Amino acid sequence: MNAAVTLGTLERLKQNGEKIACVTSYDASFTVLLEAAGVDVVLVGDSLGNVIQGHDSTLPVTMEDMIYHAACVARAGKSALRIVDMPFMSYASVSQALENAARLMREAGAQMVKLEGGRHVVETVRALTEHGMPVCAHLGLTPQSVHQLGGYRVQGRDADAAGRLLEDARLLDDAGAGALVLECIPSALAAQITAGVSMPTIGIGAGLDCDGQVLVLYDLLGITPGKRPVFSRNFLEDAADIPQALQAYVKAVKDGSFPGPEHSFD
Ligand code: KIV
Repeated sequence: MNAAVTLGTLERLKQNGEKIACVTSYDASFTVLLEAAGVDVVLVGDSLGNVIQGHDSTLPVTMEDMIYHAACVARAGKSALRIVDMPFMSYASVSQALENAARLMREAGAQMVKLEGGRHVVETVRALTEHGMPVCAHLGLTPQSVHQLGGYRVQGRDADAAGRLLEDARLLDDAGAGALVLECIPSALAAQITAGVSMPTIGIGAGLDCDGQVLVLYDLLGITPGKRPVFSRNFLEDAADIPQALQAYVKAVKDGSFPGPEHSFD
């Protein structure tokens, strides 16, 4: 069995320039396969709203949904660090965030919680970490704000937006966030953020220079209904079976062959 991955492990990987491999998981069986393939982090993402529940956004996902799926993952999980998404409007105030993050940890085995947003969640991040609940922040394309963003599109392309994201990342780092997901932003901006913060960054559509990569499991296996997101790759295409596809993903992240320029944005 692989040694258990902790926040300290992620920090060490960042310092040593070793890439972090992260994949979403929503159930026990896939969690076993992901850990056997050498994945460092499993994310119980609210993307389950899309890929499991068939919604067209993550907005309908509830705390009860997250607790159910995170508990399934936790029952099987042994080695990978387990991050669990806080669903839409479950952290609208600091006190609500404290209560709901504690539920994810106590009832569902979360080892770190993830929430979306920049400067407006800085106080929440500080309060959670001060209470012993590690936080993964999430900047760029934040799917819970899809209607405010006007759709699923690349963020941070103009200088003002890029500067704001960089500043948000620094504020979140100072507030104690232990990791940062960067979704759909230009590769050069992701590289600048990664170099400018102490926490590890985990990219999805954010280029090769992040400290790690994450993909939605169903995208990685090419079984997401509809169009494949540009930033993902179907690793099952060239593999004999699912375990081999997962191993190929981990290898490609670790050796820097994924993501390629075709999975990234300028
Ligand atoms: O919910 C999710 O799966 C995520 C990843 C896309 C980063 O937040």
